Amino acid sequence: MGRVIVVTSGKGGVGKSTITATLGMAIAEAGARVALVDADVGLNNLDLVLGLEGAVVYDVSDVEKGRCRLTEALVAHPFEENLFLLSSRALVNGSITERGFSAVIAALRRGFDYVLIDCPAGIDDGFHRAVSSADEAIVVTTPIPASVRDADKVSDLLAGYRLRRVEVVVNRVRGDLVMKGEALGVADVRKVLRLPVVGSVPEDDEVLLSQTVGRIASPTSAQYRAVLLVASHVMMGTNTLYDCTAKYRGIFGFFRKIAR
Ligand SMILES: Nc1ncnc2c1ncn2[C@@H]1O[C@H](COP(=O)(O)OP(=O)(O)OP(=O)(O)O)[C@@H](O)[C@H]1O
Ligand SMILES: [Mg+2]
Repeated sequence: MGRVIVVTSGKGGVGKSTITATLGMAIAEAGARVALVDADVGLNNLDLVLGLEGAVVYDVSDVEKGRCRLTEALVAHPFEENLFLLSSRALVNGSITERGFSAVIAALRRGFDYVLIDCPAGIDDGFHRAVSSADEAIVVTTPIPASVRDADKVSDLLAGYRLRRVEVVVNRVRGDLVMKGEALGVADVRKVLRLPVVGSVPEDDEVLLSQTVGRIASPTSAQYRAVLLVASHVMMGTNTLYDCTAKYRGIFGFFRKIAR
């Protein structure tokens, strides 16, 4: 039986879909079978982040309503044989029931080692539906006070669900600004949220560049390497955070910092 992890945030646009896709890829590359589920009905875009929009024929509601089999709705990633997507395309909110969604997730759990659910922003029906089916949650936040405050609200709400663990990934960390004391760092976020921080992912232009052409950032990018450490935490319980400030330290760091 696989593990079901919901990737959530409260505030929109902090990087849930990006983290879901990259984490899924990193876990799949390590040899586990991974299903990514877009629970963001209405504003779904996980297919775009993965460059799979042209390959989606059926979605989660088609499976729920019996219009196709689960295996028909799953889209295989073209380069990673262990990675699959279950899209939600353009469903209007509410057209899939919590029960129906849970049944689909239960079926996926039987066929995959990991099921990662990309949660919609906000805390309404879509959030509830996605979180109710999960065993664990990853809360994504950026180091911006408004985002941390929403993550805090979400973590309060998550306490009302039967989740085995709730952990935080801080995304879009600007190492240069953290060094100058001008932006929040991981330690500040940890203090506010009082939850384990299991990922520190740098701001990285490669994310934008690769998403523009429908790809996950390359394995050599800072973002991918940071998410790789999250994957290793998820799979093996290691606790190493990517050091987003490393490249701004020392003599080379000094020149990079003033060049930025
Ligand atoms: N580490 C990063 N560095 C730079 N840009 C990033 C990073 N992570 C995400 N982004 C960018 O941030 C934007 C929002 O990311 P994404 O769509 O994953 O957020 P989201 O939380 O899923 O949004 P929504 O709430 O709308 O579903 C995208 O343009 C993405 O390219
Ligand atoms: Mg999203």
